[in-house]
Amino acid sequence: MANSKPSDATPARSLPPMELIDLKSQQNRIRDKIDVAIKRVLDHGAYIMGPEVGELERQLAKFAGAKHCVSCGSGTDALLIALMAMGVGPGDAVICPAFTFTATPEVVALIGATPVLADVDPATYNLAPNSLESAIATARKMGLTPKVVMPVDLFGLPADYDPIEPIAVANGMAVLCDSAQSFGATYRGRTVGSIGTATATSFFPAKPLGCYGDGGAIFTDDDSLAKAMRSIRLHGKGDDKYEIVRIGINGRMDTIQAAVLIEKLAIFPDEIEARQTAARRYSERLSNLVGAPTVPAGSQSVWAQYTIRLQADRREQIAAALKAEGIPTAVYYPRPVHQQEAYLTCPVASTGLTASEQASAEVLSLPMHPYLTTADQDRVCDALARALAL
Ligand SMILES: Cc1ncc(COP(=O)(O)O)c(C=O)c1O
Repeated sequence: MANSKPSDATPARSLPPMELIDLKSQQNRIRDKIDVAIKRVLDHGAYIMGPEVGELERQLAKFAGAKHCVSCGSGTDALLIALMAMGVGPGDAVICPAFTFTATPEVVALIGATPVLADVDPATYNLAPNSLESAIATARKMGLTPKVVMPVDLFGLPADYDPIEPIAVANGMAVLCDSAQSFGATYRGRTVGSIGTATATSFFPAKPLGCYGDGGAIFTDDDSLAKAMRSIRLHGKGDDKYEIVRIGINGRMDTIQAAVLIEKLAIFPDEIEARQTAARRYSERLSNLVGAPTVPAGSQSVWAQYTIRLQADRREQIAAALKAEGIPTAVYYPRPVHQQEAYLTCPVASTGLTASEQASAEVLSLPMHPYLTTADQDRVCDALARALAL
């Protein structure tokens, strides 16, 4: 690809609008296989906990390098079930980054525990270890028991687990990885799903590995945690069907979604490669123009999003200029958690949440998916260069 100076090329106004995440191209690629897989479920009729669910769990556990995979109804359920299995409740603190999707702190509040918000690293947008320590101190000062740290692998990049894990161990805390956006990524030789006490992921359609509805999964090597998660997913069931041994939820994954995911998992490694190529092409063109994403040595992002950084006072104008050329963008997330009405009273790290606030004001996500062509990316980069020159 050519280098990044503003292009004189005419704006491609006549071209059809692009997709931020193109799910149709993937569907076209495997539509016949998906049709057969869904028909198989319709034929056997085991819509709940059918054979595809167990088969998917075996394949996902192998892919992730985890001993157990417990599939469930969504990424939110995955986080909730994991926290319930860990016995988190009132009086406990769960440390979450302030720059994340609302599901991260939401599940903590739902079970009566207290989310305590920590700041992120300004370069990676992931939980900053020094802020984690400050948030733990805040929790203790409030008389709460710091029970779990929940790092988020934002935009598909694993959090910096090497410094986080010893802090968790020193404080007797579990690590629940919110890897909703990062299934398929790696961190220093470790695959997402094999990191922390447990890992929760999402198969929301737009995620790197997505189904055709809601879906999620939890990974762990801990036998008793996995047993509790399977029970919670099924209303707290014991060994016998009508024996209820704990409070649970209806958190199962539909068989049809499992059947779809089995087909999508088969092409996932190839799609991960394609995402790497697309991200590399963007970075080659954009790193001189805007704040391009940082991937620390030893990590591989799965590029759920390709998120650039702009001057806060120019972001709206630039997004509008791209939109006028048929190029969609998105802001994930326009407000950090502590500035959302529902979380205004949430305790925060005493060192502040400046990086989260700044990221919310400056980030912009560009079209990103495995089926982006070089021409698509040239179109985005040319339009962006023109918008920046306005
Ligand atoms: C960081 C994060 N956590 C949790 C979730 C929840 O996943 P789901 O939408 O499958 O419930 C999401 C989904 O967008 C997410 O991005």
